[in-house]
Amino acid sequence: MRNIILFLFIAGLSTASNAENIKNGDKLHADKCTRCHDSTLYTRASKRVKTLPKLGTQVRMCKDNLGITWFDDEVDDVTGYLNKNYYHF
Ligand code: HEC
Repeated sequence: MRNIILFLFIAGLSTASNAENIKNGDKLHADKCTRCHDSTLYTRASKRVKTLPKLGTQVRMCKDNLGITWFDDEVDDVTGYLNKNYYHF
């Protein structure tokens, strides 16, 4: 029972902070990711990313190529930002 309450509490927290996460993803993306490609890459007809997990993988790949050190939740924030604004999975 205690675990269920804890779970609901944590689930509630992460929902409440979702807008914050997207905003953070926007900031991180603007800071590090617009050097090589602008956002037309995410909406072009021939875009390579077709699923949400693939989007996460691609964010991680571009980040690793650049030698950026982001925490997992920062990768998730950028993935969430791209999904909300461009990919809509
Ligand atoms: C050093 C240049 C460079 C930077 C900086 C860069 N990328 Fe990329 N990115 C690429 C290249 C090259 C591709 C592949 C383009 C293609 O397939 O034509 C790509 C593709 C992508 C795609 C897939 C687009 C599709 O086809 O659906 C995503 C998503 C992406 N990058 C996210 C990011 C994110 C997030 C960052 C910041 C961490 C970032 N990129 C920074 C070079 C870069």
